[in-house]
Amino acid sequence: MCGIIGYNGNKNAIPIVIDGLKNLEYRGYDSSGIAYFHNEKIKIIKEKGRISELEKILDDDTPNLCIGHTRWATHGKPSKVNSHPHKSGEITIVHNGIIENYASLKEDLIKEGYTFLSETDTEVAAAMIDYLYSKDNDKLKVLEKLEDILRGSYALLILFRDDPDNIYALRKGSPLIVAKSKTGNLVASDIPAILDYTKDYYLLDENDIAIIGKNDIKFFKDGKEITKNLLTFEFDISSAKKDGYKHYMLKEIYEQPKVIRNYLDHYLNNMDLIPDLSVYEKVHIVACGSAYHAGLIGNYLFEEYGDMEVTCYVASEYRYKKNFINDKTLVILISQSGETADTIASLRLAKEKGAKTLGIVNVVGSTIARESDQVIYINAGCEIAVATTKAYTLQVLTLSLCAYKLGIIKGKIDKNRELELKKSYYNLSKEIEEVLNFDYKKYAKRIAKSKNAFFIGRLIDYYICEEGSLKLKEISYIHSETYPAGELKHGTISLIEENTPVIAVITDKKIAEKTISNIKEVRARGAYTLILKNKDIEISPDIYDDVMEIEELNDLVSSILTIVPLQMLAYHVADSLGYDIDKPRNLAKSVTVE
Ligand code: AGP
Repeated sequence: MCGIIGYNGNKNAIPIVIDGLKNLEYRGYDSSGIAYFHNEKIKIIKEKGRISELEKILDDDTPNLCIGHTRWATHGKPSKVNSHPHKSGEITIVHNGIIENYASLKEDLIKEGYTFLSETDTEVAAAMIDYLYSKDNDKLKVLEKLEDILRGSYALLILFRDDPDNIYALRKGSPLIVAKSKTGNLVASDIPAILDYTKDYYLLDENDIAIIGKNDIKFFKDGKEITKNLLTFEFDISSAKKDGYKHYMLKEIYEQPKVIRNYLDHYLNNMDLIPDLSVYEKVHIVACGSAYHAGLIGNYLFEEYGDMEVTCYVASEYRYKKNFINDKTLVILISQSGETADTIASLRLAKEKGAKTLGIVNVVGSTIARESDQVIYINAGCEIAVATTKAYTLQVLTLSLCAYKLGIIKGKIDKNRELELKKSYYNLSKEIEEVLNFDYKKYAKRIAKSKNAFFIGRLIDYYICEEGSLKLKEISYIHSETYPAGELKHGTISLIEENTPVIAVITDKKIAEKTISNIKEVRARGAYTLILKNKDIEISPDIYDDVMEIEELNDLVSSILTIVPLQMLAYHVADSLGYDIDKPRNLAKSVTVE
């Protein structure tokens, strides 16, 4: 996924575009560049590395129109030549997405005399636009033709050398927003790029084309001018700012009590907004990464409270495997960004096969939100850190409320229990505030010295371990694996050496004894054992090295409390190693390519 932004107004565009790119850097950050009109030509300045590297080579030009790009490499390694903007003939573009048929288009264009400097699909798109424009100088017609020529996903900002007054924008499969501000007009991949100037924006729909002038913005679809509804960003702007925290990730972990309170105020008092899953014969939960880990917890809770057949799938598998979907199947797609390519593909597959679809999404108006039959917005506000925290916990909370409603409908939760559970939902934020104050640094120091770590747990504790392990590896680069506690001895225990960290999660009293035995097994082989357990589960101190204790909550909310110490542990390990926690190497906030 990449970040793109354009500005056209009465101020110097370069600082506005550079600041916008910095607010989009979480979308990709291996190289960046800008382009603007200069002495009747289009000047391109681009550089490998972070945006700070680009700033070092900027000229002191002050154009009023500029486009910019920050990249997460898909075609061709991170390098100056592969970074955007790309130019071909009369055309200069920046691109977010992937042109799947770029290789065959490139061959055709080479036959037409085009040459290419980079390995990117984007340069091919620029050449194709230039080729079409050389045959027909109607810009709108040329851009309309791209819908049938370019296969894949793209959000494009385009400069035509013969039109220094406008930025042209179009999207298919990758998001684009357009905004008016007091000083000029903007177009960008996502909200954080424009919030310093306005909270009002337009959302481009599939195959919409926008022409962004200095004073006006025009929208077109199928060759006709159209009007768009103006949307307003509802959350406080601070959710897109660091607010004095060292990292966005730490801020977003600390935001969890507040966003959970706001979420419960909205949904727990309006349970009609939560779908009744009991009308379906089976439920498929489909997602990627942390959203998939949230789905595993939903899977467990729906079985426990709904006595129904539920299966949770990784989206990149689901979309290709044989599936048993019919009109009595509900497919739930979980996605913070609402733009994850494999999850979108699974949504479209589910709809083709007649299933009902429910999107659990954070970004308003994102593709999954708009294409699902029903959507529940988790209202986490902007989540900037690549490693998700508050969005994950709100995804789990959403699934928990679905299970809570299921349990009430199926008579598994009576009136008294309903009131008890409601109280524990409202208690959650306070309990999270408690665990935020643990001293994580001392545990982090031990773990930071290791190359490998293991997380073990049973049932819901195992699913929590999956997320805790991903948090650790994606920001500290320590190889970490999760195992059902009972599975470790079937082979992997051979990897346990002196001081290998094993983090064991024990919140389920019914099976605590079993996991305790597994802790003894690894400790006997020299592991450093850190236990995360409920206060009321007795474990003799001589079987572990360190322990973190949390309040016992019912299983509808316990996982949301239990994950927080693991988020904090991962954060402090990565911080002690001095890594760039908000922008881990090789990652991007949303994987909009397959
Ligand atoms: C989690 O910390 C990662 N950022 C990643 O696993 C993420 O959860 C996954 O890519 C899914 O993204 P989505 O929720 O936007 O679909």
